[in-house]
Amino acid sequence: MKINIAIDGYSSCGKSTLAKLLSQKLEYNYIDTGAMYRSVTLYLMNQGIIKDGKVTLETVIKSLDEIDVTFKFNSVKNQSDTYLNGVNVEDEIRSPEISSLVSGISKIREVRQKLIALQQKIAKHKAIVMDGRDIGTAVLPDAEVKFFVTADLEIRTQRRFDELEAKGYNYSFSKVKQNLLERDHSDTSRKENPLTQAEDAILLDNTELTITELVELAHEYVLNKLNNPKN
Ligand code: DC
Repeated sequence: MKINIAIDGYSSCGKSTLAKLLSQKLEYNYIDTGAMYRSVTLYLMNQGIIKDGKVTLETVIKSLDEIDVTFKFNSVKNQSDTYLNGVNVEDEIRSPEISSLVSGISKIREVRQKLIALQQKIAKHKAIVMDGRDIGTAVLPDAEVKFFVTADLEIRTQRRFDELEAKGYNYSFSKVKQNLLERDHSDTSRKENPLTQAEDAILLDNTELTITELVELAHEYVLNKLNNPKN
């Protein structure tokens, strides 16, 4: 039996790492929906459609048909890379500039409609671990297992800070924290599919767990579901 697994949670709470490792353990495909919103944002930025952090709705809607986001497995990294119109943008979409613009773009209903349709199509044949903000509530409401991941703000800030530092960016701790708070606010308060825990999602608090412990815990829930599909 193959199932779909939905993982939602705040920015930098560890959900992508969990999704990646869990998918490897289960030999499922991992779909990073944040990467899709980031790719759309990168396209709009490169085309000069985002000006001073702002967009005209009409122009965004018109350009959506020009945007194609796909994933291709990278056997060296043992994970999928994100492609925007055939070009590998895996690193570019993780820049702080994109991080600060993406929440604004992901609020737009037409952007969400396009990406949600694509995400649902990808998950049709099951064996998918998909992470994002609205997977358990809007994209895959029938996913057999749903997780909602949380972690303390200080811990999330530290992880994000370390991640950026490792990539050579020089941001202060408070600036990183501020960006996370802004994204939390935007993700939870937007009108279209705001981030919220699905009623049937399992809450995983990642504050005091190592990544190995978190993956083990999630894996146990998944095995339990696979062994007892009716539960
Ligand atoms: O997971 P991430 O930080 O890469 O996501 C980038 C942004 O995309 C995040 O600020 C909110 C948005 N997003 C969304 O609205 N819905 C999703 N399913 C995934 C991401």
